[in-house]
Amino acid sequence: MRIGHGFDVHKFGGNGPIVLAGESIPYEQGFIAHSDGDVAIHALCDAILGALAMGDIGNHFPDTDDSYKNISSRILLRHVVSLMQKQGYELGNADLTIVAQAPKISPYLLAMRTHLSQDLACDISQVNVKATTTEKLGYVGQKEGIATHSVVLLVKSDS
Ligand code: CDP
Ligand code: ZN
Repeated sequence: MRIGHGFDVHKFGGNGPIVLAGESIPYEQGFIAHSDGDVAIHALCDAILGALAMGDIGNHFPDTDDSYKNISSRILLRHVVSLMQKQGYELGNADLTIVAQAPKISPYLLAMRTHLSQDLACDISQVNVKATTTEKLGYVGQKEGIATHSVVLLVKSDS
């Protein structure tokens, strides 16, 4: 078994909606980012790459490469999942904590888990997404952006 951790932050700017864990959520601002700014998927990718000791998404998908401009982060996740499978692992479980003062995330959690479990080639029961505010403290609390923490457990595939 291998364990991995990921953390990412994206800054608000421009117009919404925002995309989190593959789900588009109406909000007054969007993310300033090279890709779609899906901070939840980026943290998840980094957790998987961390478990594999394969660096982070910054080295796999450099933001200097224009082919990744505005790309759906689900494509990046599926690529990371293919690396995981090539290394002989499958997902044991994944847990994400989205840290956001706004917007309210709870109505979208089931849709997020559905998208992630499709991309991770696993059952929805293996994926948890939760949200918390920072009680208005700090950059998240001041609504400057959104952060996400993720941990994953990978298990060796049978075949
Ligand atoms: O300390 P605790 O996380 O319980 O309180 P909170 O940060 O105020 O979050 C209360 C509830 O709101 C949690 O159960 C979250 O699921 C939900 N929440 C949300 O839907 N969207 C957010 N951006 C933050 C929290
Ligand atoms: Zn990111």
